[in-house]
Amino acid sequence: MRVAIIGTGYVGLVSGACFADFGHTVTCVDKDEGKIEKLKNGIMPIYEPGLDNLVASNVKEERLFFTTDAKEAIKNADAVFIAVGTPSRRGDGHADLSYVYGAAEEIAQLMDGFTVVVTKSTVPVGTGDEVEEIIRRTRPDADFAVVSNPEFLREGAAIKDFKIPDRVVVGTDDERAKQVMKELYRPLFLNETPILFTTRRTSELIKYAANAFLAVKITFINEMADLCEKVGANVQEVSRGIGLDGRIGAKFLNAGPGYGGSCFPKDTLALTKTANDYGSPVRIVDTVIEVNADRKKAMADKVIAAMGGDVSGKTIGVLGLAFKQNTDDMRDAPSLDIVPALQKAGARIVAFDPEAMKEASHLLKDVEFAGSAYAAVDGADAIVIITEWDQFRALDLNRIKTAMKGNVLVDLRNIYHPDDAAKHGFAYTSIGRPVS
Ligand code: UDX
Repeated sequence: MRVAIIGTGYVGLVSGACFADFGHTVTCVDKDEGKIEKLKNGIMPIYEPGLDNLVASNVKEERLFFTTDAKEAIKNADAVFIAVGTPSRRGDGHADLSYVYGAAEEIAQLMDGFTVVVTKSTVPVGTGDEVEEIIRRTRPDADFAVVSNPEFLREGAAIKDFKIPDRVVVGTDDERAKQVMKELYRPLFLNETPILFTTRRTSELIKYAANAFLAVKITFINEMADLCEKVGANVQEVSRGIGLDGRIGAKFLNAGPGYGGSCFPKDTLALTKTANDYGSPVRIVDTVIEVNADRKKAMADKVIAAMGGDVSGKTIGVLGLAFKQNTDDMRDAPSLDIVPALQKAGARIVAFDPEAMKEASHLLKDVEFAGSAYAAVDGADAIVIITEWDQFRALDLNRIKTAMKGNVLVDLRNIYHPDDAAKHGFAYTSIGRPVS
């Protein structure tokens, strides 16, 4: 199949590379010349494990192309994917659909023969209807179908999530479009991935419902963690104890400093806006948004309390700034709340993140960036682990303890054992577990 992908952001690039790897001929289109030029030279605009190699091999096999010229790509395509951004609109939190509608108009002008137009961007219910309307208005003679095909990729695991997904959701009533989508995802049938065909509106809502549900799940366990701290219970064992119930499931029950990233904050907000517009509020999601925002703010107080209530003039070594491991993405990262609050309380911050320091340097002021985890904790009064990078999981605690001035270790991801930390002489605080 011939595929065009409009937008070489996270979703567009990963989807394009993976479809090419399935054997399809894929052209990724972006208006940003600099980005396309870099991609042609094998330079990735984002950090995603394995993406550079996947792109390189498919470019070499001549299945993956990059261009700023949408014309040829769209004209020849059996399917055109819209994978442009849908940021929160400034002021009201609704998803900003101007890029999606702009892409729809461009596709309409350039399409030739029966074309399946697939919305991969996360878009509110009813956007597919609007895209169809725009295309029909722009090109009344066009032969096309508009399909919703949401992505469920996690940053840092996106290639695996694309190639071995739990499910693929396709929203369309058009039989020809169904055949094209089946053919595109055919390699997954070999793994017996469930492909759920549904209506376009249902498919659009599935994406928001999935992200909101996961945000609820995380927020629930975070509140359980707070309760555990009060009653002297262990949240990791609570997670295991409830997660073994098949109806609940073990995943996404890791308590932490609050969820962040490019999707959950934006999509939960957009879902509540849509729900309110339709007069059918989702109050549980309203609450989750509020609780999560409060939680990120409360994490700095937790650190200050662990340091005896006063951090002024103290040096804090921060390990991890990205919103989670294996990404350089800083969007809505808990570190963006925690670090400034600690600075405001008078602390000096020395930080290390394996991938996100460049991005963080634009967003955080007066932070000293270190070249390694060990350099970040050298001479520190306290250490705060904000992101659970693998390389932080097995640090040489003797070496760290010796290099530090103080002995406070605040582990906001529960990656160390309280007993182990205590054995090494740390005053250890984690999330929802007994203090040692
Ligand atoms: C998410 C969805 O998982 C994905 O399906 C969707 O397409 C995009 O949004 P992503 O934002 O990349 O993916 O990261 P994810 O792994 O879901 O984590 C989101 C946030 O929740 C992170 O801040 C993470 O640290 C936090 N989290 C996740 C927890 O605090 N605890 C958990 O158990 C899981």
